Amino acid sequence: MAATQPRHAASAAAANLAEARERTLALVADLSDADVEAAHSALMSPLVWDLAHIAAYEDLWLVHRHGGGGLLQPELAAMYDAFETPRAVRGDLPLLDRAQALAYLAQVRERALEVLEGRGPGDGTLVELVLRHELQHGETMLQAIEHARLLPSPALRPDPRPPAPGGHSGLESVEVPGGPCTIGARRFGFAYDNERPRHRTHVPSFRIGRTPVTNATWMSFTEGGGYERREWWSDEGWSWKEDYDITHPGGWARGPAGRRQWRIDGWAPLHPDEPVVHVSWFEADAFARAHGARLPTEAEWEKAATWDQATGTARRHPWGEEPPCPLRANLGQAGLGPHPAGAHPEGEAPCGALGMLGDVWEWTASDFRGYDGFVARPYREYSEVFFGRGYRVLRGGSWASRERATTASTRNWDLPVRRQIFSGVRLAWDAD
Ligand SMILES: [Fe+2]
Repeated sequence: MAATQPRHAASAAAANLAEARERTLALVADLSDADVEAAHSALMSPLVWDLAHIAAYEDLWLVHRHGGGGLLQPELAAMYDAFETPRAVRGDLPLLDRAQALAYLAQVRERALEVLEGRGPGDGTLVELVLRHELQHGETMLQAIEHARLLPSPALRPDPRPPAPGGHSGLESVEVPGGPCTIGARRFGFAYDNERPRHRTHVPSFRIGRTPVTNATWMSFTEGGGYERREWWSDEGWSWKEDYDITHPGGWARGPAGRRQWRIDGWAPLHPDEPVVHVSWFEADAFARAHGARLPTEAEWEKAATWDQATGTARRHPWGEEPPCPLRANLGQAGLGPHPAGAHPEGEAPCGALGMLGDVWEWTASDFRGYDGFVARPYREYSEVFFGRGYRVLRGGSWASRERATTASTRNWDLPVRRQIFSGVRLAWDAD
């Protein structure tokens, strides 16, 4: 029994890694070498950088740190270290070409599997770190693919979208009663350092949007002078908007038949019932002010997503303990875009909010900081070096986030000007 358990854990880990790899490779399978190797934008890495970076990370954490082996190609370590080599310069480097990056991925994977075979997965933390890292890069690569308007593989056809239930604009709200709640990842099981320690806090009563704000509602904002009314914008937000001539969310265009939207799989009419996506924090903030609302704090967001007032406990997911599934949340890249607001009533949070996980990342009012008692683990560059530097927190994951890597305590962060991410907005209001 003692011998079969580690072997079972090692083969489960290998199967998870294989599934992640299959997806990574499918994302680029039908793109040309030129598209995979080009730097399409200073905001996004060349896709080929992501590929080799995934390999370098796996080699560092599974083969070297977990297995005690040397690095396969130590001379590549700095170029594929996310912190040492920021996005803006990745396109200027002598990166591995596509074939070399794919070979590097395969060679490192072989070494990693040997380590798993020989030593087992240990307590599983480093395997999970490496696995989630690859899953998260799948989302980053989808952002790059969409941003550069490369069409993804025909093998990645979206699952049928659920019908719009109607009645959701993003301006309807539900009440979250005031009182104590628990925030952060549970003590046991994998979580990133920035989700811990789990702690009690008091959140006064407030209202939160039942769903994220929809395209139709954003269109009214746009057409009602939302991008021209100075009084709705912060000073910083206004200068950003003026400097970059921002007049609508990313990917919108006006065609002969009305507004269109660039989606991952091409141009489509703007779907009024879907959550707005590709808005910056500055736009989200201005939109909220224009509606006599504000963005929720992180604690408010997590309380709304998980706190069960009846039992006085936090749920693992908005709907309960059961893992995510397509009925409950639009995660996992199956839809290749957001689903209509309110389309997953089975995923309802205790307060009645819908779509808290999946569809679009939701900007919060909060700066990215460590919780009291934060301990960097396993390395400072994962979270700590970003604390207190003007990054705002996003919550809830998007349609492109993998289920395994997205929980109600997951914290994402980006600068308030950024909107290449799949970012949307859910409003909050002080209690009456
Ligand atoms: Fe990374």
